[in-house]
This record gives sequence, C-alpha cells and structure tokens, in this order.
Amino acid sequence: MSGIALSSARVLLIIGGGVSAYKSLELIRRLRERGARVRVIMTAAAKQFIAPLSAAALSGDKVYDDLFSLTDEAEMGHIEMSRAADLIVVAPATADLLARMAQGLANDLASTTLLATDKVALVAPAMNVRMWVHPATQRNVATLRAQGVLFCGPDDGEMACGEFGPGRMAEPQAIVAAVEAALTRPTLLNLPMSVGKNANAGDAATLAGRHVIVTAGPTREPIDPVRYIGNRSSGLQGYAIAQAAREAGARVTLVSGPVALTAPPGVELLRVETAQEMLGAATKALPADIFIGAAAVADWRVEQAGESKLKKNAAGPPALKLIENPDIVSTLAHLNSGRPRVVVGFAAETENLVENARRKLSRKGCDLIVANSVAPGTTTFGGEFNAVQIVTRDRVEPWPQMGKLDVARRLVRLLAQSLDNHI
Ligand SMILES: Cc1cc2nc3c(=O)[nH]c(=O)nc-3n(C[C@H](O)[C@H](O)[C@H](O)COP(=O)(O)O)c2cc1C
Repeated sequence: MSGIALSSARVLLIIGGGVSAYKSLELIRRLRERGARVRVIMTAAAKQFIAPLSAAALSGDKVYDDLFSLTDEAEMGHIEMSRAADLIVVAPATADLLARMAQGLANDLASTTLLATDKVALVAPAMNVRMWVHPATQRNVATLRAQGVLFCGPDDGEMACGEFGPGRMAEPQAIVAAVEAALTRPTLLNLPMSVGKNANAGDAATLAGRHVIVTAGPTREPIDPVRYIGNRSSGLQGYAIAQAAREAGARVTLVSGPVALTAPPGVELLRVETAQEMLGAATKALPADIFIGAAAVADWRVEQAGESKLKKNAAGPPALKLIENPDIVSTLAHLNSGRPRVVVGFAAETENLVENARRKLSRKGCDLIVANSVAPGTTTFGGEFNAVQIVTRDRVEPWPQMGKLDVARRLVRLLAQSLDNHI
C-alpha cells in the first residue's frame, strides 16, 4: 500500500467564488511550506474576491482561469492538467461549484477539470448556512460523497454574513491535514479503469448489463453513543472487487461499513454502520445478478445499546448482553424470490480453513466461498495481498498469493463465466 508524501505531492487547487477565498491564499502557503507543489485554477467568481496575482505569487506558478485560452491549451491542456495532479482540492467549494460537480457540468475550466480528472477530489465547502442546509445542496453533497469525493468541513461558527451555523470553510491547517490523509490513503484502487471490458480477463466473460452488489469493510455495533464493537477489516478486498466488477462492465452497488477508502469511480456507494443497516441497504439494492458478501459483519450486537454514555461506577463494568445479528449472505441466498443468481460469501478463519468454509457454504446456502486465513501472523486484514481458496460444492481451488485487486479480477472473471454457463 503506497501513499504519496505531502512533501512530494502535486496539488491542483481550485478556488471558487466565495468570501473565504482569501483563506485559500494561506492554504497555498501552508501546502508549499510542507513541500507540495501547488497549481491554481480560479473560477471567474473567485477573481472577484482575490487577485490572481496573489495566488500566482504564493504558488510560484501562473494561475489558470480560462477554458478557452489558446496559450494555456498549447502549454498544458485542461485534460493534462486534471491528470498531472496527485489530488484536486476545491477550496472554497461554493454551492454552485458543488452543484456543477454533482451534475457533471463542464462549463468552465474548474468544472471541466473536475469532470475530466481520474484523481480524487477533496472539497472544502463554504457558504451561508441556509445554502448549506438547503435540500438541493445536501442532495449534491450526498451524490458527491457516493462518488468518492472527500469532504473537509464545513465548520460551525459565525459567518461573514452575520448568521451562525455550519457553512464556514475549514481552516487551512485542517485542509492540509485532510490533504495529507487523502494522499496517504491506500492507492490500490487508483488504477486505470477500462470501463466495459476487464483488461485482465483475456476472454469474452464480461458483466456488461449485470448488476453486482458487494458488501465491504467492518460493521460497527454500538455499545453506547461513543463506543462500538468493531473488527479489523480494512475494506480493501471488497472495494477491489467492486472496482473489478465495474471494470468488467457491471453496474455495481457497494454497501460499505466505515473504512478509510474512496469508492472506485463509477460505483454507487452506500455507507452503513451496523449489520442491520448493511442488510437493509443490500436488500434494497436488489435485484442483482451477483451478490458478493466481502464485509466482515459482526456476528453479534449489544441487545440494549446505551442511549447515553455508560459511566464508570462502583457497581463495576456493565454486563453487555449480546444477541445474534442477521446473517446477510444467508438471508440473500435463501430468498424465495429475487435471489441473486450467484451468491458469494467470504470466510475469514483462523483454523481449519477449508473445512469451516465448506460448512459455511452449505449452512448459508451460497454458491461459492472465498476462504482466507486471518490466523495470527497473516496480514490479510489491512494488507495488500491475499492468498485465498475458492470453495464450491464440488471443488476447492487454492489460488497463489496475489494483490487484492488481482484476486478481485480473477474472482470477477470466474463469476462472469459461471453466470454465462448458467444461462
Ligand atoms: C459577496 C458575495 C459573497 C459570496 N459568498 C459565497 C460563498 O461563501 N459561498 C457560495 O457558495 N457562494 C457565494 N457567493 C455566490 C457565488 O459567488 C456565486 O454562486 C458564483 O456563481 C460562484 O461561482 P463559482 O462556483 O464558479 O466560483 C457569494 C456572492 C457574493 C456576491
């Protein structure tokens, strides 16, 4: 898993037209202090608030603002600019810019660059509180989050317009920290995507026209409002499968527990916390041709999660009564109507891998189990590599250790072939 250090990062900063544009000048300074190279695009509105010359002087580069500039296109086309960065930061992200991004508009240099990029965008919204809480803005925010756009802020506080509430742009230090976190997150999924054809498949197996639902990551089962039962799942394998299925042309719904990953491009991301929410979201996403349960779903939840924080007291530690969570793979595999044609489960075991996987296969009623060892000493959880065994009713196929994306692509190819054979 290799991230990019801020000291060698190339950041493309898009400055929108809001009062807080002046803070972006400090953001440029702070990013450069940390060693990052900063290239700046300003919207036409941004130029009403700060002078391009200030941004040019602080970034040490010319400022780009015109989509139709012959000179700029000759020097560095807008497509090239959108690709030459490691991360795109939009600060301040105006309500209008968020709406353009969510709609996929490309009517100026900023929005065209955002649409043309293959890099992650981190946005720092800033606007009047009413604009921020407006359902239209919130809808746009939800759309962008589902596409994997990262958000920093907005903060609560008094605004330039005199009103109070959420809408202030995050402080430059906080944006720098968010940039650093975004750069160092796993890059496994930032691989080039060949939509519609799995470049690795090497045969006609494709998932074009199919719907694939993938669950990924851990679940969090609340103990009280601040504590939860969780597990060490990073979500990497599930996200890689979602990416591979998308590459193979499928429509992909990724139901994800809390993880620090960006959704692969073109994948619909539904964020959940608990096992029950995960089951609800997966069921709602049906019908599907394939269901892949890669999430590490908690087997148990606390029967009565505290409504307020449990306090230490003389009576000693609280006795937590655990009850069983619904089994998502089993529920979907046993559906009388609307069962996905292929249901895949994962078995993370510490011992008797194949034997336990076999038992799981028949108990859950699924078609295939991807079994991997999470015994002490293995790095399956959070690691880049995975050594799995494919267990079906009549065979066990050990695969060599591979990168998680390679495991994902091979699995997707296998599933595409098995769908074709079932028809
Ligand atoms: C004085 C003034 C302050 C503004 N501040 C903001 C703001 O903080 N956030 C915002 O979303 N829009 C703000 N606007 C509106 C935007 O400037 C306007 O929607 C513009 O079209 C945004 O263009 P852009 O998204 O291309 O930068 C402000 C407008 C004015 C006149």
